Amino acid sequence: MLQTDRLVTDFAADVRRDLALAPKQLQSKYLYDALGSSLFEAICRLPWYRITRAERRLLEQRAPDVIARLTRVSADAVPLFVELGCGSGEKLVILAEALQTAGGHGRVHLIDISSQALEQSERTLGRLRHFSVVGHRETYEVGLRHAAEHREDGNPMLVLLLGSNIGNFDTPAADGFLGEIRRALAPEDFLLLGADLVKPERDLLIAYDDPLGVTAAFNRNLLVRINRELGGSFDIDAFAHRAVWNPAAQRIEMHLESLADQAVTIASAGITVRFARGERIWTESSYKYDESQIEQMGIRAGFAVAEQWIDDDARFALTLFSAI
Ligand code: AVI
Repeated sequence: MLQTDRLVTDFAADVRRDLALAPKQLQSKYLYDALGSSLFEAICRLPWYRITRAERRLLEQRAPDVIARLTRVSADAVPLFVELGCGSGEKLVILAEALQTAGGHGRVHLIDISSQALEQSERTLGRLRHFSVVGHRETYEVGLRHAAEHREDGNPMLVLLLGSNIGNFDTPAADGFLGEIRRALAPEDFLLLGADLVKPERDLLIAYDDPLGVTAAFNRNLLVRINRELGGSFDIDAFAHRAVWNPAAQRIEMHLESLADQAVTIASAGITVRFARGERIWTESSYKYDESQIEQMGIRAGFAVAEQWIDDDARFALTLFSAI
């Protein structure tokens, strides 16, 4: 079976299972087709979505500290950078340029399920003279396993999980995934984790329900994708974007709310799904943390905290964990 056929079959099976749940759900990883990835990039440029700019500021300020940690044991080491969810590759370039400025060389493995994101990152990182770049169009878990096969003793590995991507995992899954990263690493290796902090509700809501409607388009595009790839009959206008802050769970939830009683057929999944007016499909959770919750998450997975840097303005944290 071709890889694209397998991806479509998995998508159909996931949609069939998740729309049968109560409440109905769709997995957030399916938000990122080519249009969804472009809409997410547009979100990152919105004045109300501050994660990307805050993280970039911290990386620009702290890249020399990260590189100093990586090359502490040997100045000749050739670090292996593995970025999970590489986006445009521009954040990794900041670290790579800091290494080049210090006279070093490195290797990069990029992991993303979006081919568009991978191509763009490969182009961005292709500008670097002293780096080799390999892309993996895979889930984080599978891509991490493949990238870790290229690890060499004496050359530290730095896994980057940036942009608060960890926030899209539920707590047990986040713990499980950080544990998996830890098991792929040796004691001289590191994890750099970017995670968004809890902030006032109005700041969170406008970041996930922006006045330009870009986040609404990003969310509703999931239905466009199901119509195109799985033969769905969603009437896009009959579903509205909703962003809700759940303070007890410390997460923003994105939903698609049915504006009418209606039935939708999805041919490739072999289902007809009924929606009552006001019924929602839960499409994403975005967890927000306080500083010590982030440290504890890493410690539970078997890491030690090497450094934690905070952008107080946007309330965002960059934490460097050592695999000890
Ligand atoms: C990719 N991820 C960290 C984003 C977030 O903030 O949860 C996705 C996103 N959803 C809506 N806006 C951005």
